[in-house]
Amino acid sequence: MKLYNELADWWHLLSPPEEYEEEARLYWEIISRYKQDINTALELGSGGGNNAFYLKQHCHFTLTDLSPAMLQASQKINPECEHIVGDMRSIELEQEFDLVFIHDAIAYMTSEEELSSVFQVVRKHLKPGGMLFIAPDFFEETYEPSTISGGYDDKNKGIRYLEWTYDLDPDDHKATTEYAYILRDENGAIWHEHDRMENGLFSKATWQSLLEKEGFAVHFETILHSEFEPGEYMGIVAL
Ligand SMILES: C[S@@+](CC[C@H](N)C(=O)[O-])C[C@H]1O[C@@H](n2cnc3c(N)ncnc32)[C@H](O)[C@@H]1O
Repeated sequence: MKLYNELADWWHLLSPPEEYEEEARLYWEIISRYKQDINTALELGSGGGNNAFYLKQHCHFTLTDLSPAMLQASQKINPECEHIVGDMRSIELEQEFDLVFIHDAIAYMTSEEELSSVFQVVRKHLKPGGMLFIAPDFFEETYEPSTISGGYDDKNKGIRYLEWTYDLDPDDHKATTEYAYILRDENGAIWHEHDRMENGLFSKATWQSLLEKEGFAVHFETILHSEFEPGEYMGIVAL
């Protein structure tokens, strides 16, 4: 996606940390209900680091992502966190953590094989008794086509986006999201860009059985957002 590469400098204007404050608080409420002694956490697919911006007050975070440009953006708001380039399907840090956290980046896994590779990576990076928390955008049961828009200004510079998700083939375990961006730079130049993303769509039963194959006990938790993108979401706790 252009957004995670040549447009990564625009990420925090499109999706600023403030939009994540409530959800990060709700995630930590769930995490700390299952596990209290968390000193170290690893995030896979941490992108611009917006969740970590809030979660790092609770423990030390190591942030990893496929995109060096997104990690550079995250470094600006999370200078105290380690940033490491890596693919969540194969990264090897030779370090174990109390918690592995995965947010919306899990949507880039579009097959059961890819999800299983991620869970194997998680297993290798968790201490005994460690916990995995995943907050996927979509489950097969709850998926609905949607359109959302947003974006902000910084003096003369600004970005607006339209995000349109649809599922043309309900049997292929994938949905598609189109992103249209209109950008205005400091000199007043205006242009637009387009990205397309394939999102994995898996049922709760699939998540559960793939996690259980890696030896995890699975709990689904309802998450109610009231502020940015209000609605009912689901988180997965795996112990
Ligand atoms: C929507 S962004 C994440 C934003 C993040 N939740 C935040 O708080 O800023 C999705 C991220 O997933 C990353 N990504 C996609 N596939 C990946 C993979 N296989 N391994 C690691 N990161 C991946 C992208 O590079 C991108 O930074």
